[in-house]
Amino acid sequence: MLELFSVTKTFGQLRAVDDVSLSIYPGQMVGIIGRSGAGKSTLLRLINRLIEPSSGTVIFNGREITKLAGRDLRLWRASCAMVFQQFNLVERMDVLTNVLIGRIARHGFLSSMTRHFTDEERAMAIRALDRLDLAPQALQRSGTLSGGQQQRVAIAKALVQEPQILLADEPIASLDPANATRVMQALRSINRDDGISVLVNLHTLDTARTYCDRVIAMREGRIRFDGVPAELTRERLREIYLADGLQDEIDEAVTSTAFERPEKPRIHQTV
Ligand SMILES: Nc1ncnc2c1ncn2[C@@H]1O[C@H](COP(=O)(O)OP(=O)(O)O)[C@@H](O)[C@H]1O
Ligand SMILES: [Mg+2]
Repeated sequence: MLELFSVTKTFGQLRAVDDVSLSIYPGQMVGIIGRSGAGKSTLLRLINRLIEPSSGTVIFNGREITKLAGRDLRLWRASCAMVFQQFNLVERMDVLTNVLIGRIARHGFLSSMTRHFTDEERAMAIRALDRLDLAPQALQRSGTLSGGQQQRVAIAKALVQEPQILLADEPIASLDPANATRVMQALRSINRDDGISVLVNLHTLDTARTYCDRVIAMREGRIRFDGVPAELTRERLREIYLADGLQDEIDEAVTSTAFERPEKPRIHQTV
């Protein structure tokens, strides 16, 4: 189980993540929603320690992640593989090599320089690609694939890290609806079939509702809702944001497809 206790990350005066406590149970698929700037990316980065918390602790299966260093930190980062909106592949390299790069997270950069990937690792990478229907593209240059295919390569790369948690930061934000569906289905099947916990930042409530067991809504670094999707009705979401007098929150970010259009045109103000 992954546990966050009062985790805060400040950038100057700004509390990007503000006193967040939560527990993620093994095998959960959790959608994190919130408008741009709500703190979603910062939250994921705090978990895999791409950034350090200003205060608070992150614990995984009883181990204090916020204290890890050296090899233990590298292995932790490998066990919570990240998938990004922009895929983060080396476009001029072939698909298989890109996937194998995921193994470097496991055995370290220096040892990767002094040894080749084993046959076993190659077989593992091919299996990961096959699961994502990309085995035929294994020797193609990554840059020649469609966005949706590239994101699936990125997911295969995450899989060969043998993660316990998959952190996906707006993985479908750059994709058209058909590719977005394939990518979300891939994440869901990895979650179901392998029992890997998935934390996925999403722009819209509807996507979170379709694929996730649990939805967390963030605003200004804080968790404003945490529960099963059925509880997060449009009405409830509206309440959460209206309670703060922030009508402006009901706009494109959380809500592009999640809210009905208001009857009257709304005056947008900067909060
Ligand atoms: N490295 C940074 N330096 C300064 N401010 C940052 C940095 N990273 C994020 N922020 C700020 O923290 C807030 C939360 O950002 P982020 O976690 O990226 O939100 P989201 O992913 O929900 O859009 C935003 O106001 C953003 O501008
Ligand atoms: Mg973000």
